[in-house]
Amino acid sequence: MKTVLITGANRGIGLEFVRQYANEGWQIFACCRNPIAAEALNRLGTEYPDQISIHQLDVADHAQIEQLAQALSVQAIDLLINNAGVYPPDRGDRFGATDYSAWNYALTVNTMAPLKMAEAFIQHIAKSELKTLITITSKMGSIADNRGGGSYIYRSSKAAVNMVMKSLSIDLSGRQITAVLLHPGWVRTDMGGPSALISVEQSVTGMRRVIEDLRFEDSGKFFAFDGQEVPW
Ligand SMILES: NC(=O)c1ccc[n+]([C@@H]2O[C@H](COP(=O)([O-])OP(=O)(O)OC[C@H]3O[C@@H](n4cnc5c(N)ncnc54)[C@H](OP(=O)(O)O)[C@@H]3O)[C@@H](O)[C@H]2O)c1
Repeated sequence: MKTVLITGANRGIGLEFVRQYANEGWQIFACCRNPIAAEALNRLGTEYPDQISIHQLDVADHAQIEQLAQALSVQAIDLLINNAGVYPPDRGDRFGATDYSAWNYALTVNTMAPLKMAEAFIQHIAKSELKTLITITSKMGSIADNRGGGSYIYRSSKAAVNMVMKSLSIDLSGRQITAVLLHPGWVRTDMGGPSALISVEQSVTGMRRVIEDLRFEDSGKFFAFDGQEVPW
């Protein structure tokens, strides 16, 4: 049975990854900050009791990341999906009104946590069959694509994680680990809002297809959910 670990698995894109991989027969380590309040995830866990285990994980807390890696030390993890992310409140992300503590937190969750996850879970991934590490980034982190300005905090946190994952892909190449960045599209979630262009089903179906087609040569690339490469 293939195994996947997903952060931020209680709602939005993360929850849909759990739903679709469960439906495909994978074993899932579904991580979220507050398992007791994760009603939709708990319902899925009840539906697939042999496949889904739910783990408490705040990705801003490095001690928790290390504890979980230790607790799962015997597991091989075919696919690690760094999905958890934050979008700071708009009022604190405008020129002249920047909320610098929100920026610190966005960097902690969006930029640093994916690397800390990779550091903690590298052995689990290395001993798996697929050896794949995915970080959900955003086109808003693309410098080439920035025509709208603003969103300093979110854009910079995603641009920075793009660079982190690019370096990681080079550093992990000797272990045959494929590290790729994915843009999920503009998706109708709490973060994307109701006007977003695509559903979580469309986004995750597309990203799963991209993941399935990945080859080691793709390591270090930045793809959208539809398989198009995104300019840096
Ligand atoms: N939706 C879009 O249009 C869009 C576009 C581009 C990129 N993305 C990216 O896609 C990913 C998922 O976004 P989404 O749309 O599903 O957002 P969402 O509906 O707001 O869900 C965000 C998820 O991240 C979790 N999270 C936040 N901080 C966390 C922390 N410190 N530790 C653990 N989990 C944490 C949340 O958990 P809680 O419930 O505990 O808060 C929630 O599960 C993010 O990385 C986002 O930046 C989304």
